[in-house]
Amino acid sequence: MTFARISGTGSYLPPRVVSNEELASWVDTSDEWIRERTGIRQRHLAEGETTCDLAEHAARAALEAACVAPEEVDLIVLGTTTPDRVYPATACQLQARLGALGCPAFDVQAVCTGFVYALGIAEKFVRTGSAKKALVVGADVHSKLLDWNDRGTCVLFGDGAGAVVLEAADQPGVMSTQLHADGSCEHLLYVEGSVADGYDNPQQSAAHVKMQGNEVFKRAVRTLGQIVTDTLEENGLTKSDIDWLIPHQANKRIIDATAKKLSMPPERVVQTIEEQGNTSAASVPLALDTAVRDGRIQRGEILLLEAFGGGFTWGSALIRY
Ligand code: ACO
Repeated sequence: MTFARISGTGSYLPPRVVSNEELASWVDTSDEWIRERTGIRQRHLAEGETTCDLAEHAARAALEAACVAPEEVDLIVLGTTTPDRVYPATACQLQARLGALGCPAFDVQAVCTGFVYALGIAEKFVRTGSAKKALVVGADVHSKLLDWNDRGTCVLFGDGAGAVVLEAADQPGVMSTQLHADGSCEHLLYVEGSVADGYDNPQQSAAHVKMQGNEVFKRAVRTLGQIVTDTLEENGLTKSDIDWLIPHQANKRIIDATAKKLSMPPERVVQTIEEQGNTSAASVPLALDTAVRDGRIQRGEILLLEAFGGGFTWGSALIRY
């Protein structure tokens, strides 16, 4: 039997750091409010760098860690909501930069769940023998979708990219993934503007995130609580079997609620939200790479990755690292 195993991780944050204090000089907010309600202290914003630029840095770091040459990659799946162009896919642009021409390369749009979706898809390619070395990326410049006058959303997000290399192996690997969506709640979280309206229409307002934060918060807590329970049940595991929770970094209070549901002590929960904010599809692989590189996550340990985002979409991945 073939499994998909993570052989390398990588990530990248653009150098420009914006603190809560600096943000408070742009919009009516305060460091105290942002920290108390979200846990965020600062975020990285892309200046002159695109999603593909961020993705390339993360991808090259993951390939190096896996000791895989770009030409060996036989699948690229990239989760993003902020592709550089409507087409070609950012995955195709990345493929050209890496020189991995010929293999399938496509984007997955599942907002903050984009990486977990991408991982779930790539893992199936590897398990069925359709790919042997897959590059899976989550990359977003969500800052470009923000209305910097809307304090309810602009304080939350940052930019970044994370990546993993998945390789065929005879041991797990990715043990299971769960992917879900409920398209009936568009009004709670969406981006204005559409291709159908014509992006070049001068009447069209810029594409900005609109969110009913309170309602999204409640649904995220409820949904993520359920998916961690479902994931444990499906795999016949108990809470104590999980070594690390690697959650989407949307809000510290949401992360803490999920950790409580799993009875996970805080030191077993990887949190990057304080320094990075919500980097959308990049947040889970950024957190994973951070804890791999600082030595917290060790080979053989069991990781539970989870995310919730616009769509609504949500999902989990259970991994023996
Ligand atoms: N600074 C100061 N005051 C603020 C700010 C701000 N940045 N933002 C809102 N407020 C005010 C509001 O105006 C409101 O004031 P009022 O009581 O006088 O009306 C008050 O603070 C409370 O506002 P709420 O929206 O109720 O605040 P809440 O505690 O819900 O926190 C937040 C808001 C942080 C957005 C929270 O709801 C949240 O994290 N929601 C979930 C986000 C999420 O998980 N999104 C999904 C992933 S993202 C994606 O997929 C793209």
